[in-house]
Formats: sequence, C-alpha cells, structure tokens
Amino acid sequence: MFVPSEEEAAAGQGSTFPPFRRMRRLRRTDAVRRLVRETTLAPEDFVYPLFVTHGAGVRREIGSMPGQFQLSVDELPRELDDLAELGIGAVLLFGIPAEKDPSGSGAYDPDGVVQEAVRAIKWHAPDVLVITDVCACEYTDHGHCGILVGGEVDNDRTLGLLARAAVSQAVAGADIVAPSDMMDGRVAAIRAALDRAGHSQVAIMSYAAKYASGFYGPFREAAASMPAFGDRCSHQMDPANAREAMTEIAIDLEEGADIVIVKPALPYLDVIRRARDTIDAPLIAYNVSGEYAMVKAAGSLGWIDERRVTLETLTSIKRAGASRIITYHAKDAARWLQEERSEVRRRVGI
Ligand code: PBG
Repeated sequence: MFVPSEEEAAAGQGSTFPPFRRMRRLRRTDAVRRLVRETTLAPEDFVYPLFVTHGAGVRREIGSMPGQFQLSVDELPRELDDLAELGIGAVLLFGIPAEKDPSGSGAYDPDGVVQEAVRAIKWHAPDVLVITDVCACEYTDHGHCGILVGGEVDNDRTLGLLARAAVSQAVAGADIVAPSDMMDGRVAAIRAALDRAGHSQVAIMSYAAKYASGFYGPFREAAASMPAFGDRCSHQMDPANAREAMTEIAIDLEEGADIVIVKPALPYLDVIRRARDTIDAPLIAYNVSGEYAMVKAAGSLGWIDERRVTLETLTSIKRAGASRIITYHAKDAARWLQEERSEVRRRVGI
C-alpha cells in the first residue's frame, strides 16, 4: 500500500489513495444539510396535552413536569392563545375531577371538568382540534382504569363506562376521542355508542399499543391517577413484546379506530417503525411524561443541552415513522423551530 511521505500528508495529497466517496460534501454547510435532510419537524407535528382541573384561576405547576400545569377552565383561553401564536392546533385533554368514586362516574358527567373544558375551548377557538382522553383512572377513587370486581379491573363492565364517557365528550364538542384504558373491545363499544348517539363524525384515536411503562410516573402525579394498589400489567402491554403490538393495532383498526397511537415513544421506536411498515392508518406516537421529565431534569442540571436533545428526540420519533407526536415539549419545540426559521431568514438576507 502507498504510504505518503510526511510532506505529502501535510499537503493533503489524499488523491493518491484508492478512490472513495465524499459523504462530507453534503454536510459542509447548514444550507446543504437542509437540502438533503430526510426528516423535518413543524409545529403541526405536535399535539399538546392539557390537564384541566376544577376551580378558578388555577395554574398549578406539576412538580415532576417543569413547565407543565394543571389549569382551571378559565385559564384555557390564555393557553390557547399561546398555542395559536406558536402554530400548535391540536390539544389532548385530561381531567382532574373534584370528586372521585369507585365507578368513575365523573368521566361521563355532562358538567364534568373535561366536558366544560371542551365547551370553553370550542367557544374561544372553534378551529382548535380537541381530542379527549377516555379512561376511568382519573375518575375512580382507587385509580384503576375501570370497574373493579374482586380486586381486578373487569373488562366488560368497564366498556359501558368508557362508551358513556366518550359520548358525553362528543356531546360537549370533542372532535376526536382517545381511549387509553386498554380494555378489549372498547373501540367497537365506543364506535357503536357514538354512532347510536348521532356522533358518527367523531373520530376515534385509540391507544392501540400502550405498554405497561415506568415512564408514566410523572403523569400519574399530574392527573392524580396513581393506582391505590397493584399496577396496570393486567391490561397494558408487556414492554418485551413487539409482534403483539401489531395484533393490538390490527384489532383496533378492525373495530373502527381511525388513528392509532404507540405509547411511550422513545423506548418503542422499533414498534413505531414496525407499525408504519405494516399499516396505512395515521400513526401517532405519545412522547410521555417520563420521557419529558428526564430531559427536563438532565437539562436543568446542565448535563445535556435541553434544546438539542429535545429536537433530536422528536426528530427520531418522526424518523421512526410517526406522522404526529403527542408531546409536552410541543411549546418549547415550536418556539425553537420558530427561532431556527428566523435565523435562516437572517442568514439568507431576507
Ligand atoms: C391513562 C393515561 C396514562 C397516560 C395517558 N393516559 C397513564 C397510565 O396509563 O397510567 C400517560 C401519559 C404520560 O405519561 O404522559 N388515562
């Protein structure tokens, strides 16, 4: 093999080496990197979760989710104005009711906190897409996702509760209902109930592949939905299973889901990719509370660059195949994307 002399090496006479491809050509400047970028982020990619609580003038920061708040209904218009400013047009609502009971009846209360929130949002900003979480865990005093029989979540008894909750949210004006409970048959039950109640235009976004994950910890503080005993392993999926996720998704689509969710996102990028390659329906990833909390915590300690890590994470979720992302980072990310855009404008002299 040819070995360059010290002078030749210093002069950069690499052309005397065997031919090779110069991949660095397309990484040389920001402009060329932009030209060949395969995955991009925009504010329309994000769905922003909101935690709505009873009371007035409440804006209570969630300890394990810095920058996220429990908001009372009267605080929503201000929040929506911020979102509009940032170009975020879709919200996912979770309710924290004043009172809970064993049967989670607050979930279908026509004057419940989520139902009130939907009406307030549609009054203030009718074009904002309102998606509502359908689950019992925020409304049951034991914190489980359904009706308990003998200490276990009873699948079929829970279906009626979920269907009633979904219909009450549709009546309030929700555009899309999002069942997150993982009971079998709930998509079919909700679809039938919505249609019977005259809401055939309300779509179902189902948490089709929802794993029994440690990453939901901060959410359970945010939504006050920690189970009083036990866990959710009898209905949420085993983190070890990916093929099973394809079955879950296929069943939900068959039952009438319009959009499917994989959740959490970052530890399940392979599941997102597999789903994208398997199905044609819109696919959304949920970048959950624990994923957010880790980035925030390490960022605030100066251990990672929060902005870079956040945008890199969101990009990876889209690259894996998610069409959209439910994320608590939505506002920060949209702001950073806006800043990037004005930086480009400045650089090209507009
Ligand atoms: C259940 C629900 C949960 C999340 C969304 N819907 C919690 C759970 O299953 O325990 C978690 C979302 C997050 O962690 O950000 N209603």
